[in-house]
Amino acid sequence: GKVAVMFGGESAERTVSLNSGAAVLNALVAQGIDAHKFDPKDSPLTDLTKHNFDRVFIVLHGRGGEDGALQGALSYMGLPFTGTGAQGSAFAMDKVRSKYLFLGAKLPTAPFCVVNKGEDFDCQQILSQLSGKVMVKPANEGSSIGMGEAHSVEQLASAINNAFNYDSEVLVEQWVTGREVTVSILNGVALPIIEMRTSHEFYDYDAKYITGDTEYLCPAPLGAELTKEVQDVAVKVFNIVGGSGWGRVDFIIDENNKLNVLEVNTVPGMTETSLVPKAAAANNIDFSSLVIDILKGTL
Ligand code: DAL
Ligand code: MG
Repeated sequence: GKVAVMFGGESAERTVSLNSGAAVLNALVAQGIDAHKFDPKDSPLTDLTKHNFDRVFIVLHGRGGEDGALQGALSYMGLPFTGTGAQGSAFAMDKVRSKYLFLGAKLPTAPFCVVNKGEDFDCQQILSQLSGKVMVKPANEGSSIGMGEAHSVEQLASAINNAFNYDSEVLVEQWVTGREVTVSILNGVALPIIEMRTSHEFYDYDAKYITGDTEYLCPAPLGAELTKEVQDVAVKVFNIVGGSGWGRVDFIIDENNKLNVLEVNTVPGMTETSLVPKAAAANNIDFSSLVIDILKGTL
């Protein structure tokens, strides 16, 4: 059948998506699959049926592509697609609603509060409630866009206002000092864990894509017991939000080896040096096999 590889889009992560999508498209075409680029920024979704596409490989990150809107539309059109469905995508993209799911399922996650645009908030009160240091995140963004650390009233006010440039709802999380790790999930199975070591304050946009100075350890040197715990929790988290097919669950492990679930990514980065491909490689799954395994999820 004919495969539309959807990438680009109009979210703040467009550039990342263009890189992820090009890598996926190349790998599919190199394996003789009738795959074509489809950028929803340039073409209406009705072109999918007009050009007789049979299925869709989604490599759009962020709003419009990863948040369930597209997944709902494709379901309605009866077109099979890779990864998580509309409901799971919507929950995973939304860091605030994800938090409530984690709490409800008694999954370990840092204390937080929520601030909405147009409502009053008290920075002093938020800081004292959350141990004096926090991470501020737009509720629906990716790749660390719009995020900022704060440990003073002035910093918090400016971080929240900056996050409001990206979303009308903002998550303020208690800061967790620890090791940043991620678990890639492929067809229900946790791949080897990756630990990201950065000299930046956290694994931010630059550390992810620009400066090239992040150290990646895979498998993460956590020891057998902690490794199994993190992988088990990752699969649980992925299922709780309604994930399916493939994705990535991010954590910080604090100095007492306590896990903190950060979030689920239902369309993680897929450049050849991205995290999921790294984890797959550690399991002897090369990039070509990985994209085929993901595509098989639509059959
Ligand atoms: N949001 C980026 C693409 C990631 O999670 O890899
Ligand atoms: Mg994310």
